[in-house]
Amino acid sequence: MRLIFLGAPGAGKGTYAAQLSQQLGIPTISTGDILRANVKQGTPLGLEAKSYMDKGGLVPDELVTRMLAGRLGETDVKPGFILDGFPRTLAQAQSLETLLKEKGINLNAVVDIDVPRDVIIRRLTGRRMCPGCGANYNVNTNLKPKQEGICDKCGKALITRTDDNEATIKNRLQVYEEQTAPLIAYYQKTGLLRTVAAEGEIADIVARIRKAVAA
Ligand code: AP5
Repeated sequence: MRLIFLGAPGAGKGTYAAQLSQQLGIPTISTGDILRANVKQGTPLGLEAKSYMDKGGLVPDELVTRMLAGRLGETDVKPGFILDGFPRTLAQAQSLETLLKEKGINLNAVVDIDVPRDVIIRRLTGRRMCPGCGANYNVNTNLKPKQEGICDKCGKALITRTDDNEATIKNRLQVYEEQTAPLIAYYQKTGLLRTVAAEGEIADIVARIRKAVAA
């Protein structure tokens, strides 16, 4: 199964992709996670990407597409993958189409994860991450850690992502509307688009996504 998860920042792409990835036994490719890992390691890509990410803008297409092409060349993606956060522009969607054509593979579905704006803002402002194991919590939803500020799994102090502040969130949402939302119409034309309402319990939403992509 080869899937794209579209959706605004904070819609829940990473959360649902992690669960579906386990259920289907295929990896998630999150361009945001790969970029953050590069920033943390201080690689040349990370140094270049950081200034765009901190402002809530998009990293240039050429850099992200090259990074994605490298990841798609690895052996674990052969049985399938979930793309979380790529493509995010029309140019990225066209590059992906070319890449997949060269590899002789097709997408099965593009899932538009649909959440009202007020819910998105609540999810983004409440998100807390574990810098040790990467676990994701939320102080504004039912995903609070058992002990405030501490990871349930590894006991490390939780952090807030540097781009989860009010000004950057506002910019990320605007960039999404201008550059990424047009991909909904793009994939609608291909017949691959499946829109899934993503409010409620995580397990129910993941089941809804499974049903939508099987259709
Ligand atoms: P990226 O990391 O992809 O960020 P994003 O798209 O803004 O998405 P998020 O990770 O913020 O949200 P999500 O939809 O995964 O939500 P989550 O599951 O965490 O990208 C970061 C940056 O990297 C970009 O701004 C850009 O600069 C750059 N970048 C990345 N890809 C790029 C590309 N292709 N081109 C150019 N630049 C690129 O959920 C949010 C919170 O809500 C969590 O706390 C979660 O636990 C909670 N939650 C979710 N669902 C529920 C639920 N049903 N009930 C209760 N809580 C819930």
